[in-house]
Amino acid sequence: MYWHPLALTASGATICKLLRAQGILARPILSARFVSVSAAAMSKPKVLVTRSDLPQKCLDMLREKCDVDVWPEPRPIPREHLLKRIVGKDALYCLLTEKIDKDLLDAAGPSLKVIGTMSVGYDHLSLDEIKKRGIKVGYTPGVLTDATAELTVTLLLATARRLFEAHAELLNGGWAKCAWSPLWMTGWGLTGSTVGIFGLGRIGLAVAKRLQGFGVEKIIYSGRGPRSEGEEVGADFVDFDTLLQESDFICVTCALNDQTREIFNEEAFSKMKPTAIIVNTSRGGVIKQDALIEALKTNKIRAAGLDVMTPEPLPPDHPLTTLPNCTLIPHIGSAETKTREGMATLTSANILAALEGKPLPAQLC
Ligand code: NDP
Ligand code: DGY
Repeated sequence: MYWHPLALTASGATICKLLRAQGILARPILSARFVSVSAAAMSKPKVLVTRSDLPQKCLDMLREKCDVDVWPEPRPIPREHLLKRIVGKDALYCLLTEKIDKDLLDAAGPSLKVIGTMSVGYDHLSLDEIKKRGIKVGYTPGVLTDATAELTVTLLLATARRLFEAHAELLNGGWAKCAWSPLWMTGWGLTGSTVGIFGLGRIGLAVAKRLQGFGVEKIIYSGRGPRSEGEEVGADFVDFDTLLQESDFICVTCALNDQTREIFNEEAFSKMKPTAIIVNTSRGGVIKQDALIEALKTNKIRAAGLDVMTPEPLPPDHPLTTLPNCTLIPHIGSAETKTREGMATLTSANILAALEGKPLPAQLC
């Protein structure tokens, strides 16, 4: 049963008085049980959900115990509506498309107790501001690791073997012109290569495990320091420069924060092999995009595969889309049916646990 914290502070007599004043109670005395049920019913926690196109189960979970306000459109809630609808809510169910900053938290006011983001990335949340207010945050680590690692390897292979270029050639008549030309559409395989992973976290590690089946010669990784999990997959920790200089393929699987923002910049690209291929499934902000475009145009590096970019959604006429050596997909790392269901229900479970004063199944802070 949910109790609004303010309702809990009211005595039974005060509640009776309030109910009588509103004509809800005819008789002055009621059983304690009735009073508590009525008060609880009146004080269901209020949850704002920022979009409507979510798995039904996660909404049902919330509706069973909360008063749920769902933004009715299947696209991100416009900022001005978010600022209005958050006022007085106890909980926020959001996605990575919503920026949760000081202005939003000020607008929400002191009632906000928990934010559940349906993502493992949390660069859209101003954690300092959130912590200052004692608001809990739930997120979705683990449930999307396999799906995102699988997609990272898919993108790596698609970029290295020029899958999208080849598909375009089939459609535009290029195939007919050269028939089975021996050197046409040749790409670069993983066998015997060195793969560098930037950020050997949950997803980075799962990528390394999957790469073991592809005949990769050596896996190296970089981050804030060596991790014991590296040994599990025979991956060696190296500094960032070594990762850049030695990798034939680089998979970027780190979190975006002040230290990793635009860490792949002009200087980084100049240290990479001219034959190197970079794949990014973390956040667009980790790569300085103008520098990447320049590096791809001038063949400083060979190719890039991006699931994440800046901005998102990327306009179809963006300079990145004109580069034949850049494979682009629209942030679909975790877009696997069961995974998205798992993320959605974990987000609701996080919110419900926080509202009940219980430990969150996946608590960030
Ligand atoms: P983890 O927290 O398990 O891993 C994060 C990794 O980032 C760690 O290896 C960590 O390194 C590294 N990192 C963090 N800060 C730094 C830093 N300052 N310098 C170097 N490395 C750093 O998270 P997950 O593996 O679960 O997810 C990683 C990211 O992937 C998410 O934050 C999200 O942005 C993105 N993502 C994208 C998806 C998509 O659809 N494309 C889907 C899911 C996630 P260290 O080992 O030193 O701690
Ligand atoms: C995340 O969870 O951070 C992804 O980007 C979307 O699944």
